[in-house]
Amino acid sequence: MLAAPKVPLINPTSLARFVDPLPIPSVARAAEQRADPANPGHTLPCYRIEMRACKVRLHRDIPTTPVWGYNGQFPGPSIEARRGEPLLVEWVNALPSQHFLPIDHTLHGAERDKPDVRAITHVHGARVPAKADGFPDDWYTPGHSVLYRYPNGQDAATLWYHDHAMGITRLNIYAGLFGAYIVRDAEEQALHLPSGDYDMPLILCDRLVAQDGQLYYPVSDDPHAPWVMQCLGNLVLCNGKVFPYLDVEPRRYRFRLINVANTRFFDLSLSHDQAMQQIASDQGLLPAPLERARIELYPAERADVVIDFAGFAGKSVQLRHESQGIVEFRVRAQSSRDMSALPATLRPVTRIDPAAAARERILTLNEIDDANGNAMQMLLDGKRWSDPITENPRQNSIETWSFVNLTGDAHPIHVHLVRFQVIDRRPFDLFAWNAHRKLEFTGPAVPPEPQELGWKDTVRADSGMVTRIAMRFDGEPGRYVWHCHFLEHEDNEMMRPFQVLPAHS
Ligand code: C2O
Ligand code: CU
Ligand code: CU
Repeated sequence: MLAAPKVPLINPTSLARFVDPLPIPSVARAAEQRADPANPGHTLPCYRIEMRACKVRLHRDIPTTPVWGYNGQFPGPSIEARRGEPLLVEWVNALPSQHFLPIDHTLHGAERDKPDVRAITHVHGARVPAKADGFPDDWYTPGHSVLYRYPNGQDAATLWYHDHAMGITRLNIYAGLFGAYIVRDAEEQALHLPSGDYDMPLILCDRLVAQDGQLYYPVSDDPHAPWVMQCLGNLVLCNGKVFPYLDVEPRRYRFRLINVANTRFFDLSLSHDQAMQQIASDQGLLPAPLERARIELYPAERADVVIDFAGFAGKSVQLRHESQGIVEFRVRAQSSRDMSALPATLRPVTRIDPAAAARERILTLNEIDDANGNAMQMLLDGKRWSDPITENPRQNSIETWSFVNLTGDAHPIHVHLVRFQVIDRRPFDLFAWNAHRKLEFTGPAVPPEPQELGWKDTVRADSGMVTRIAMRFDGEPGRYVWHCHFLEHEDNEMMRPFQVLPAHS
């Protein structure tokens, strides 16, 4: 059971639609050049990004809302990187000493002896050495900072950064600690996709907002164990606004859709039955544009789309979640000449041959009742965060991981460091599994959906199915994590460390 909020929540139907312009996150600027820790005698651009408390207006008619934001912005500034050009970020924790959201001290890593306010930033989808990946236990308190080096040795893609502090990630991201991290490269640039003012992130999430403007994070009615297994908001936010509008020209735009919600999955479509051309998924360009009437995004997933407003001069088009308009594009009568292109092919994606895998891991997703209460826990392969590491791939080796989902729900599973491919999903017999831990398939393997034929870093693992992915661990040896990206699950044991072992020499 959920406890009722003290102040009633806003009824979304009472809000005026499309009265606030869509904010476009500012682009972070390097504060200085600093010595490159990996390359003596060289310097790199260094960004200084400070987490701090701030107040924002989610909508013209909602009182101001206290949030936490990178550089005091909600979402944080976008970091723009180029492939092969490393950069440094000094992530500064300048948050207050008290949390404004309810901490559950019964969760692992959030015990009473831990400070309430802790933070550590992870760039989701970045291939970085372990020491700059933002390991959840490496959190630090207000007044401290870390200096991370991002090599950007990866294809152009829409990544995002967010907090990853052990046991309170769901609260810190809910508070506002997220932003876009965009990698560009020459190959993508040569395609002449819409760029500059015609290329922007649309960062989507939902929040429970009370009538006084405060964020409400749901708690159970058990004061000793306030954790809840999901958090769904009453309002949908795009770039930090509820029901924003954007003036656009009658031409092509590239929008980078990023789902940063705790639990909500978005089911996106355009009004007028207008299709979108999906050009990229989590880890960059698809082999070819894909015409889509609907795009579903689970938490942490991304989709880059090209929308052509050319036929809509003087009209408006809405981006909808389910049947509800969440953003309005107001198309002007005139446009500057559209020099952009939407080529028929984008970037080839060489398929990984699962037969080349050095190792195949069978990993369950399961739910258990906590031994000392009624609260539920979600586990990966029946193990807890603190259990010894079991996933220890060799650097540069290929592995397949099969997620055997024993729960009643789909879970978005994310693996740090690597990009992967979805091989297939296949239904299996749950009773046979429970009886003798053997996989007995009950139907043919289902190939990945067309939009899953690019590189991914987060995959929907469906209930009753074995979802198989393949990846090459081409990163530095060290300790990383994999987890469910429903933040409530991730904070309650549905996260595991893994260790990349040095390649055989
Ligand atoms: Cu979005 Cu562990 O990451
Ligand atoms: Cu990640
Ligand atoms: Cu989950």
